[in-house]
Amino acid sequence: MHTILVTGGTGYIGSHTAVELIENGYKVIIVDNLSNSLIEVLDGIENITGVRPDFEKFDLCDQKKVFSLFEKHSIDAIIHFAALKAVGESVEIPLEYYHNNIESLINLLQAMQKFNTSCFVFSSSCTVYGQPDMLPVTEKAPVKKAMSPYGNTKQISEEIIQDAIHAISSIKAISLRYFNPIGAHKTAFIGESPVGVPLNLVPFVTQTAAGVRDKLKVFGNEYNTGDGTAIRDYICIGDLAKAHVVAVDRLLKTKNKTNYEVFNLGTGKGVSVMEIIESFEKATGIKVNYEIVDRREGDIEKVWADTKYANDELGWKAETSLEDTLRSAWEWEKKVRNIKSKQ
Ligand code: NAD
Ligand code: WQD
Repeated sequence: MHTILVTGGTGYIGSHTAVELIENGYKVIIVDNLSNSLIEVLDGIENITGVRPDFEKFDLCDQKKVFSLFEKHSIDAIIHFAALKAVGESVEIPLEYYHNNIESLINLLQAMQKFNTSCFVFSSSCTVYGQPDMLPVTEKAPVKKAMSPYGNTKQISEEIIQDAIHAISSIKAISLRYFNPIGAHKTAFIGESPVGVPLNLVPFVTQTAAGVRDKLKVFGNEYNTGDGTAIRDYICIGDLAKAHVVAVDRLLKTKNKTNYEVFNLGTGKGVSVMEIIESFEKATGIKVNYEIVDRREGDIEKVWADTKYANDELGWKAETSLEDTLRSAWEWEKKVRNIKSKQ
């Protein structure tokens, strides 16, 4: 049985990936400092899989603790989710973002070298493309100057990984560039739990539907898009999680073509903000109170993924419909808020 270190594994994407890994026969060790997640997530993972993953609470910026973890366990691969991820906050406290996101990465890569772990999967982001010149955006599109310190940490991290691979021949890595992950596990035992006012669209939609927020603000309706609202590629969290299992398996079985590979993880379909609202209403039968306001600073107009490379090379494809995904987000929100279904 292969042992996978899942950093940030009590977080949103990490917890869903831990479930997929366990269900595919991997042993999972989670490290998280719980700076943006709750320990109860482990109960959710156990409820779904029947297995409680090993868990260690510490900060990955602490190199001693990282090294002692590798001394204790024989780790075959790492999936590195742990990072600070709020774009706006990163503008306010850039040094904390650079420190947290870069230091933790370097510590892990050094541990890989010291303890002979060769497989590394990294959580990157479509944010590295900025507003692409051509859509859908392929992995070959140029990386554009980052619009925030957060985005910059993803670009720098990808460069650090490539430099490390160049120098340390035992290391190989896959960067997965996520588009917009949404939804929750189909059992509603785990989901996305933003702290405070949600910054992302779908948690704001579900909280508005639940009556926690008065009104959704739609940021701009004069973009050069069909209905004037901005377009993104919203991918189901379950589909996204599955891609990590494929990526780990690819590295462990040496199916990788080069020692550093990059894949877009999206659906290949662009969806506007208004279409999200309409699909949510259709999927749940609940009206979303909204108003159109000014654009949000730093937002791009439209982006969606070219998924051909990931589909062909990984043999992976996002399969869940937008409506099913939004329904899962709503089931999770209802559970969190203790709202009983009327049906
Ligand atoms: P999340 O905040 O839910 O999970 C990240 C986890 O990492 C949290 O549980 C947090 O407590 C932990 N963490 C942060 N810094 C740590 C440190 N120094 N030591 C130990 N634990 C630490 O975020 P998420 O949405 O699950 O995102 C996971 C990864 O995917 C991040 O790297 C993020 O940048 C990237 N990503 C996310 C999105 C998205 O929309 N959610 C999109 C693209 C990329
Ligand atoms: C989606 C659309 C908003 C909230 C962010 C990060 C990016 C990546 C994914 C990590 C946009 C609109 C939103 C609201 C709205 N994360 N919106 N009202 O901005 O595409 O990407 O998450 O790497 O780096 O920037 O996602 O969910 O915030 O917004 O109208 O209350 O919804 O303007 O068009 P975004 P989002």
